[in-house]
Amino acid sequence: MLAAQGEHISFHTPGHKRAGEDITELVYSDSLLSPRGVIAAAERDIAQILAARRSFILTDGSTSGIFSMLYALKREGATRIAVPVSSHRSVFNACRVLGLSPVIIPKTLVKGIPQQPTAEEIETAVKEADALLLTSPDYYGFLAPMSEAREICNYHAKPLVIDGAHGSHLHFTDVYAGKFADMWVDGVHKSLPALTQGAVVSAKTEMFADALFEGVRTFRTTSPSYPIMASVEEAVKFPRNEAIERAALLCKKRLGAVRNDDWTKILVCFGAQAGQAERTLEGAGVYPEFNDGNYLLFYLSPCTREEELTRLTELLLPLPRGEAGGEGVIPIYSEGI
Ligand SMILES: Cc1ncc(COP(=O)(O)O)c(C=O)c1O
Repeated sequence: MLAAQGEHISFHTPGHKRAGEDITELVYSDSLLSPRGVIAAAERDIAQILAARRSFILTDGSTSGIFSMLYALKREGATRIAVPVSSHRSVFNACRVLGLSPVIIPKTLVKGIPQQPTAEEIETAVKEADALLLTSPDYYGFLAPMSEAREICNYHAKPLVIDGAHGSHLHFTDVYAGKFADMWVDGVHKSLPALTQGAVVSAKTEMFADALFEGVRTFRTTSPSYPIMASVEEAVKFPRNEAIERAALLCKKRLGAVRNDDWTKILVCFGAQAGQAERTLEGAGVYPEFNDGNYLLFYLSPCTREEELTRLTELLLPLPRGEAGGEGVIPIYSEGI
């Protein structure tokens, strides 16, 4: 696209009037609403990598993907959606806006960590619902029981959608959401190196692809950011970094981190010492993803460097630890709203 730019006098948005990557939808830069050029090619490549029937680039975060998936479910006749109560707030917001009724799957806590629902809990809710939405992996780095959920959904003939806001780095593996779901969203800006708000929503079949396209045209911005779109394509094509995956597992062992399922999430329990630990780290220029009052979560990606894990280990090992006491709180989550 940049190669096609050439001589440029801008009588169009954006107001900074400079040509370059941050451009609007012009004859050579394609259109996200009805892509036929560079964006169509990027979306085709992404769909192929993610083994999707169709993938749609999002520049408004996984949030717009969740709204779009729920829109698509509604268009295909669903009115009741089985969802774990600890789902992200966008799930409940979308249900409210779209007039969908959440069938709540209750939560169990173990040492202050919300557990993924069991197959039994999923089946009970699915019987009462028209579709199932799971989050995998979750913010604490645990996978949902996706193959059991797929079997349950097949048995009851209900669609399965997955909020993979934290799982885009898993597309190389057998535990990737796209291996199980009818529709899923990848938060490419969280665990792969896209710019903030870069995400992808995908559908497995033509029927859901059509409904999802209508959903994304309803909920996406009409002024998509080209830097974000370009970064999404690059992030999905970013090579796997097995050296950092191995280093992360070693680091977790050394730190006595929680044994979760996801190398990008190092979860360390500090209990009542969590605030003090966070302040000490911040004083040394090290910032965790969250402090829920019990645990600090250190979020990695293929761009994390081994020396950064070494520094984290040196800083964390001497800090006092405590046991988890009660339920942790993450401000961006708000259950069942
Ligand atoms: C599980 C989950 N789903 C969806 C979202 C929304 O993603 P975004 O902030 O990219 O809109 C988040 C954000 O943290 C999340 O944790």
